[in-house]
Parts: sequence; C-alpha cells; structure tokens
Amino acid sequence: MKKKITIIGAGNVGATAAHWALVRKLGNVVLLDVMEGIPQGKALDLWQSGPLDSFPGTITGSNDYADSAGSDVVIISAGLARKPGMSRDDLLAKNVAIVKSCAEQAVKHSPDCFMIVVTNPIDAMVHTAFKATGLDKSRIIGMAGVLDSARYRTFIADAVGVAPSDVNALVMGIHGDLMLPLVRLANVGGVPIADLLSEERIAEIVHRTQTGGIEIVNHLKTGSAFYTPGLAAVEMAEAVLTDSKRVMPCATYLEGEFGISGYFLGVPIVLGENGVERILEFELTEEEKTALAGSVKAVSKQMEATGM
Ligand code: 2OP
Repeated sequence: MKKKITIIGAGNVGATAAHWALVRKLGNVVLLDVMEGIPQGKALDLWQSGPLDSFPGTITGSNDYADSAGSDVVIISAGLARKPGMSRDDLLAKNVAIVKSCAEQAVKHSPDCFMIVVTNPIDAMVHTAFKATGLDKSRIIGMAGVLDSARYRTFIADAVGVAPSDVNALVMGIHGDLMLPLVRLANVGGVPIADLLSEERIAEIVHRTQTGGIEIVNHLKTGSAFYTPGLAAVEMAEAVLTDSKRVMPCATYLEGEFGISGYFLGVPIVLGENGVERILEFELTEEEKTALAGSVKAVSKQMEATGM
C-alpha cells in the first residue's frame, strides 16, 4: 500500500515539499491549508505533471483535516515567513498558535504519524507541537540542520571547487545566527577543510552559512527560502518512510545528550522506520560546547515567549 504524506501549509515551502514528495515517489500526498482554493489549485497543477515525470503518487488539495486521516508522515510548514528586517523570533507570536492548532488537528486524524515541523522559529515550533500533541520524542523532529548543512556544504564545495555531494559537513544547534557549523569535522572526501582552505575563507563560509536564510530574504523581499527547505523536509520524510537509517542533523528532543535537557536542538540523528532511532552523541571541544550553550540560551528564551 502506498504511504500517505500530509503537508500542512500550501505556501512556497509546502508546495515545494509536495512537489519533491511526488517526484521522489514517497506515496500519495495531501496538501492542506486554511486558504480555500490554494491547496486545491496547487494540488491539481502538481497532479497534472504526473504524466511528464511518471510518478506513481496522487495529490489532493484540501481545507479539511479529515482528508489527512491515516497519514504516515505529517509535515507542518504553515505560518508566516520572514520579510527583510525580521528575525525568525519576530514570527514566534503568530506562528505558535498556528503550529499548535495544526499539530493538534493533524494528530487527531493520524495518531501514529511521524511529524516534521518546518515553521519558524523551528526549534521552538517543534517543541510547541511536541507539547501540544504528546507525540513520543522519537516521532517528531524539526527541519533545519539538513537545510543549514546543505548551505554549508554548497559554500565549501564552491570554495574548494568540488562536487557538493563529496562534502561532508555538519551544522548543529539552533536554526538562527547562533547555529554551529562544525569546522573541525567538515571534510571533502575525507580531507579536512582546514587543509584545503585558509582560516579567513573558512570564517567567511561559516558566517555565510549562519546568515544563509536572511541573505535569501533580502533578495526576495516578499518571503524566505523554499526550494531547499522543501527538499530538506522531504529528504527527512523519505528516510523514515524507506527505513534508510540515514544520518541527518535535525532538531530533536534532548534528554541529557550533549549535556542538554528539555529542548529541541539540531544534532545528528539516525532516521528510520521507528523515527528518531538514535542520537549520535560525540565529544565536543570546549569552544564548541560554548557555542552550543548559546543555542540553548536562545531557544530557552524562545520557549518562554511561546508560553507553552
Ligand atoms: C531559512 O533559513 C526558511 O528559515 C529558513 O531560509
């Protein structure tokens, strides 16, 4: 039987994720939104691309959560996106109510789903959905490390002049300016980047990764990135639906790992049919621990502001 993926929020991120979910042949997709006509229109358009790309899944646009019933994966991308001059935290007050309501309704119809939260500020929004639904911590994660690491890998590949797929690099912590692109572990086909790039060049790449979201917002002016965020969410969903055991940095509920408890933050995890199957904990340097402590402080402030 085909898997069922519901994407809540038919804006740019949601529609892009729906497109990728079909093209990657993950199963049947439901695109859900409160706006009447938008999910229906986008779903119809995507459905009609089937003959040209020969994907087997169908897609339905809907305003009714009943249509999402029995979903294997639910991706929440509903909410406001940033405009120039806004931080991700500026979205918090509006998005907390949206994410809470979407998560509650989704789980009512799909109690066994695996949930991926994409709405910003991601680390606090996935925690909000976790509290609102009571899902087990292995069944809910936030997308951001996959996006931030993709940006980091792209910039490294460009600087070294190699294929992006040959760059291994990890971004941990919050999805915000205090995220931690790990330099020590970043490598190109196993060769450390410190042996290939100058310290100054690496510092520029780290900074560009940390501000990768706002760089795009400043170009677009009307919203934020969606191609890579949409694909990142689908990549995570695919790992769960295909039980691939892929290792990805995702916002995960921590209970002592990396010395952090009671918060969702980006750490490397193994994703498979049981959801978050393992957190890959490793020893951090003192400098990295300090950087990660900055993420914890920032996410704890966000959580206070949610009132959850
Ligand atoms: C970004 O970094 C959407 O927050 C997202 O582009």
